[in-house]
Amino acid sequence: MKPSPLHLGIIGSGGRGGILAAIAHRSRKRARVVACCDVNPDTLARNRSDFGPALFTTRDYRELLGRDLDAVIIATPDFLHEEQAVAALGRGLAVYLEKPMAVTIAGCDRILTAAAKSKARLYLGHNMRHMPFVQKMKTLIDGGAIGEVKACWVRHFVGHGGDFYFHDWHAERRYSTGLLLQKAAHDIDVIHWLCGGHTRRVSGMGALTLYGDIKDRLPADKGHRPVVHGCKLDVWPPAKSRGLNHRIDVEDLSSMQMLLDNGVQATYSQCHYTPDYWRSYTVIGTEGRLENFGNGEPGTVIRVWNRRSLGYDAVGSRTHRVPAAAGGHGGADPRIIGEFIRFARDGGETTTSPLAARESVAAGCRATESLRNGGHALSVPRIPARLAACFPSA
Ligand SMILES: NC(=O)c1ccc[n+]([C@@H]2O[C@H](COP(=O)([O-])OP(=O)(O)OC[C@H]3O[C@@H](n4cnc5c(N)ncnc54)[C@H](O)[C@@H]3O)[C@@H](O)[C@H]2O)c1
Repeated sequence: MKPSPLHLGIIGSGGRGGILAAIAHRSRKRARVVACCDVNPDTLARNRSDFGPALFTTRDYRELLGRDLDAVIIATPDFLHEEQAVAALGRGLAVYLEKPMAVTIAGCDRILTAAAKSKARLYLGHNMRHMPFVQKMKTLIDGGAIGEVKACWVRHFVGHGGDFYFHDWHAERRYSTGLLLQKAAHDIDVIHWLCGGHTRRVSGMGALTLYGDIKDRLPADKGHRPVVHGCKLDVWPPAKSRGLNHRIDVEDLSSMQMLLDNGVQATYSQCHYTPDYWRSYTVIGTEGRLENFGNGEPGTVIRVWNRRSLGYDAVGSRTHRVPAAAGGHGGADPRIIGEFIRFARDGGETTTSPLAARESVAAGCRATESLRNGGHALSVPRIPARLAACFPSA
């Protein structure tokens, strides 16, 4: 076991990375943020004030990797994940890599190859697996509450669409591939986890149906623009959104159908201009179905239906309360960082999985390809067996 505390470097220490860094740094006996990298000088100044004047800061992630570190958190925009993760793993560092693992299937396989070669510990930031409402559904399904799972239907109401995904790099295919990967990577992973399989055939449909018509755009800049954080609840209806990215070539309304390797059929739909923000999961088995009402807010419940009724049954046979947990993303963020620190120090089993993360990217990439080419069903390539054998099964 590594003597305490773990020396942690953060690559992309502004948005998501800044939040994760603060959580990790709180456990000073176990981990300490000693280096931050970001292209935004204001972010680095804030990092020095948060983590102390001795903090090493740089705009170049390669300089950060040259420091005396045990682990890094990579929370840069998606298109940078592959290069930075491969470099960090090549140096033998434990890596926390934000979702999606990469923006291409080949990119994921190169990351897995780098981890397999160096034997460095690779951990994926699929924090939804740490959300209490998802864990409750998983426990109920694994306990046989609905029999053998046959179908999963997910509706994703992305009420923050206009705030987070159309002002910056997310809106461009060259940086994100598309939102059926960028945003859905979480849900595809959860669908796979709840249903006990991975997508092998997928079709997609979608279009840019609202934000493309908004003419108020930011000027083109040389690179990608920093994310504009924060929700503006008074911007309604979404057609009143202003200052969008100069180029928008991703879809704001999309859906995908998945056939998993165990025969489960799943659907996922995403809309970026709903008034509310949440995810609704329905899982159907041979002896019932379950559904979540809420995503971890006080009052969140999972309802299970196990008896027949002649018509609409609003409450079902059983209602399971999901206790509210403290911390970001319904309590998932402190849990996932706690697990990563333990894994980076001591190894052992983890709730998230590098192989599963790659499978979610694979399904999202192929669904995006399908929706942009007529919606035909496409096969999803398996992870090469020799590579898969280097990691715990997904
Ligand atoms: N798991 C979750 O719940 C969750 C939530 C939000 C974001 N994310 C993921 O986290 C990642 C970052 O998202 P974000 O919204 O914070 O994005 P962002 O655009 O705010 O970028 C994050 C930081 O990276 C910095 N950066 C950009 N290019 C860089 C470079 N070349 N080198 C170093 N730093 C660079 C930015 O200045 C910014 O501070 C994405 O992959 C996203 O999918 C995950």
